Amino acid sequence: MTNEPGPGPAGLEHLQAHHGDFANFRDAMIQSSAGRFGPIWWGVFDTYVHQAESVVDLGTGPGLLLPMLRARLPDAQITGVEVQPEMLEPATENAALAGATLLQANLEQPLPLPDGCADLVTCVMVFHELPHPPPLMAEMARLLKPGGRILLYDWLRRDLRNYLDEEQELTPGTLQHFREHCLFSLDDLEFLAERNGLRVLESVGRRGGRFAILALEKPA
Ligand SMILES: C[S@@+](CC[C@H](N)C(=O)[O-])C[C@H]1O[C@@H](n2cnc3c(N)ncnc32)[C@H](O)[C@@H]1O
Repeated sequence: MTNEPGPGPAGLEHLQAHHGDFANFRDAMIQSSAGRFGPIWWGVFDTYVHQAESVVDLGTGPGLLLPMLRARLPDAQITGVEVQPEMLEPATENAALAGATLLQANLEQPLPLPDGCADLVTCVMVFHELPHPPPLMAEMARLLKPGGRILLYDWLRRDLRNYLDEEQELTPGTLQHFREHCLFSLDDLEFLAERNGLRVLESVGRRGGRFAILALEKPA
């Protein structure tokens, strides 16, 4: 499945600039997945997701979350959304393993999914990757059923001094990553959620404030 019009070259160019070599980035995402989907993530998940008939994982990347969602939600309809060809290869395998549907679609455009189709939307390390992220918050709210929940996991704004602890060289590429990784504060993400009629249930900081996991709800 794809959305229409399909992902334009501009979308992939933006991702290419952000990720560099797609295959390397895919491998890095696979290697780092245990850190993302560890006890803190599953603690938030188990607190706020008790049952779900329909789950959409936006920007599923290699799709590693899909089988983990299946283990917790054996009867749910699970859909992963991804656009990048290198990610789609492992995502296809993981979707098959999970009995999930893989939707090849660009998150910069409205998704070919109906309003109110999901009890749960997950969006892990994706929001900051869009050239203009705010419409994705509206799209997540559109996909949710009333009473449905979003788990949004993303980078938070930090000072350059603090950011450069991880990436010491201050190259044009590093500075561009800084712009993209450090755009929104926690309050900004909560503000964007609230502007779209979502309620913030909890925001859990990670790794000294580098990241946060937000549990959001569409009021019933
Ligand atoms: C940092 S990776 C995270 C992947 C996965 N959520 C995980 O945590 O393992 C971000 C993913 O979002 C996808 N992505 C970014 N922009 C996108 C867009 N406009 N449409 C679809 N997918 C997008 C990228 O291709 C990439 O696979």
